[in-house]
Amino acid sequence: MRILVIHGPNLNLLGCREPAIYGRETLEDIDTSLQALAEELGVQLRTVQLSSEGAIIDYLIENAQWADGLLINPAAYTHTSVAIADTIKGLELPTIEVHLSNVHAREEFRRHSYIAPVSIGQICGMGSNSYLLGLRGLAAWLTKTKLI
Ligand code: DQA
Repeated sequence: MRILVIHGPNLNLLGCREPAIYGRETLEDIDTSLQALAEELGVQLRTVQLSSEGAIIDYLIENAQWADGLLINPAAYTHTSVAIADTIKGLELPTIEVHLSNVHAREEFRRHSYIAPVSIGQICGMGSNSYLLGLRGLAAWLTKTKLI
């Protein structure tokens, strides 16, 4: 089973970015935990952090053939990007959307996601555990639904 992991803009600042909201873990810490879980689950990961909308779209199109599923934290593009949602829908890539913070308990504009309607589900508010739960959920969904 092969899963793409995409971290959107500003997630490379984790560790020093608004720690009261996002915690002290760095993106490298999160990727290390994801890799350990992937090995336990027998999943191969391709992980990348991309800061622009176009780069995320190009990466998705270039890597979709390789992947069985997508774990994505689209960061601010969650709330703005029809284009990324169209790409995920067009590629028919089973997707789980994750957020470190509880986007529903913050500013009003963060409650809306363009990505949620083209995803299997959304996990938020659990800090880095959102990613780990997302990976477990996606692997279980793929096993059950796609019989990989
Ligand atoms: C975020 C939530 C988004 O609203 C925000 O723009 C981010 C991070 C999260 O992981 O909590 O950059 O996706």
